[in-house]
Amino acid sequence: MNPLVSEIARLKSKNNAVILAHTYQPGEVQDVADFVGDSYGLSVEATNVTSDTIIFCGVRFMAETAAILNPAKKVVLVEPDAGCPMADMITVAGLAALKKKHPSHLVLCYVNSTAEVKALSDICVTSSNAVAIARQLPSNQEIIFVPDKYLGDFVAEKTGRTLILWNGFCPTHACITSGMVTQAHEEHPEALVLIHPEAPRESRRFADQVLSTGGMCSFVKNSERDEFIIATEIGILHTLRKQNPAKNFYPVSDTITCPNMRKGSLASIRNALEGKGGEIIKVPPETAAGAERALRKMLEMSEEKSYSDKAGILGTSGDMLKSLMEDKKKEREL
Ligand code: 13P
Ligand code: SF4
Repeated sequence: MNPLVSEIARLKSKNNAVILAHTYQPGEVQDVADFVGDSYGLSVEATNVTSDTIIFCGVRFMAETAAILNPAKKVVLVEPDAGCPMADMITVAGLAALKKKHPSHLVLCYVNSTAEVKALSDICVTSSNAVAIARQLPSNQEIIFVPDKYLGDFVAEKTGRTLILWNGFCPTHACITSGMVTQAHEEHPEALVLIHPEAPRESRRFADQVLSTGGMCSFVKNSERDEFIIATEIGILHTLRKQNPAKNFYPVSDTITCPNMRKGSLASIRNALEGKGGEIIKVPPETAAGAERALRKMLEMSEEKSYSDKAGILGTSGDMLKSLMEDKKKEREL
């Protein structure tokens, strides 16, 4: 066993720390984590942490989200340089200008965004709940969706709504071509193709399922099929193989990697636990308050999804909607 593994376990208990990792992180990092999940799962998990410290293995917006949702904890991003290029494709000034042009639109903001952009938004979404949250809004409510034009397009496709989209995208998922999907399928004709909604529509249309990374994990677990082509960042193949040792997984292409997610390592976790590396994430209180409001709406609307689905209605509870609309009205009056 790598000696760093036992060193990390010792430091973790000494510091009363917990390790959270995204499914795109390198396998060795996932193996020492207490929780591995998608962006949504990680934000829910972060709210529930009772340990003093959260060692976060992922990218900056995820660690920021954890710090906003659980401000009493020390959140350390193990690789301070691990950003998300998509999150940096939208600026506060750009979003403010768009909102000014469309004052009655609600802003749905993918969590792959900075805390400042979240604070200017009405509701955060992740790839696992964006469609369900959009469905809960009245059909005549107009929507701005930022920053991912491909996830926004997926929401538009699934809900039949017209959204104003920001021109942002994930440089990793944008590289998933329809040719890659069809070629992988020719090589593995028995396999089901699972693709992430950050991929372009022309590639998504050749897939069997469009799912967040957490969605892929539960789909595979519950599927009777045993071969899958995975069209997202290759880190998730480790998670899937570990959870389903009897099933076979093929990356749509092994070039689909996120350089920022690849930065995490056992050494960077050890350094963060020793206080010799990583960055303690601090979000200015005013920004954190605004971002938390949009994040909490996402968490509440994700919980209510099961209620709406069960009831077979496309509407959120009256109270939630009322408070959203009141917030919007107040904002317009400012
Ligand atoms: P998930 O929402 O599936 O975690 O994917 C988001 C992502 O791309 C992380 O960068
Ligand atoms: Fe950002 Fe894409 Fe990397 Fe996710 S995979 S962190 S969206 S660049």
